[in-house]
Amino acid sequence: MLTIAMPKGRIFEEALQLLRAAGFPLPLEFAQSRKLILTSEEAQLTFILAKPMDVPTYVEHGVCDVGIAGKDVLLEEQKDVYEVLDLKISACHLAVAGISGQTLDVVTPKIATKYPKVAAAYYRDKGEQVEIIKLNGSIELAPLIGLADRIVDIVSTGRTLQENGLVEFEKVSEITSRMIVNRASYYMKGPKIQEMVERLKEIV
Ligand code: PRP
Repeated sequence: MLTIAMPKGRIFEEALQLLRAAGFPLPLEFAQSRKLILTSEEAQLTFILAKPMDVPTYVEHGVCDVGIAGKDVLLEEQKDVYEVLDLKISACHLAVAGISGQTLDVVTPKIATKYPKVAAAYYRDKGEQVEIIKLNGSIELAPLIGLADRIVDIVSTGRTLQENGLVEFEKVSEITSRMIVNRASYYMKGPKIQEMVERLKEIV
């Protein structure tokens, strides 16, 4: 049995489709379930449905052999896991955004984000001094209510920015979901994991 951690919602639905296409017989009811642990004896897989930012933690600690997580989460969490495959699902990008036409005329601009490490590294590389403000969601609020001058956040369709009168200024990084593997599992369950990677590779 392989244990797989992944976020609830869209990534889980897309990953289920991918795994089915790769030949894993997974029940259709899985997508509708509210259970946090789902097992398919037939496919020899157990799914642990977690918060996106927690997926690399489960895998690093070895309570899950495999994880599916966005590259944004992997960049931010920097856990000690193997990244083995780009699944090319849930594509989006990380961007710097703010109020249209608003210039940065302060010495240390405030940057609101759910990704403080990624944002700090981005501005450090550019040699710009900023103050990072960590938020847990609805990041687009920050410039609208005067908490920050810019945000670093995920842009998918661009609707959230547009409907809140914000524009994208810079692209930080392209994002897709990746398959990650626990270091010990990679050796202990090598053939099983390798088979899954190969089958998924063909579909991707
Ligand atoms: C994400 C992201 C943006 C939005 C972008 O938020 O933080 O707010 O989606 O999508 P769009 O470009 O298609 O509008 P999420 O729904 O994960 O909620 P959050 O506010 O809790 O981060």
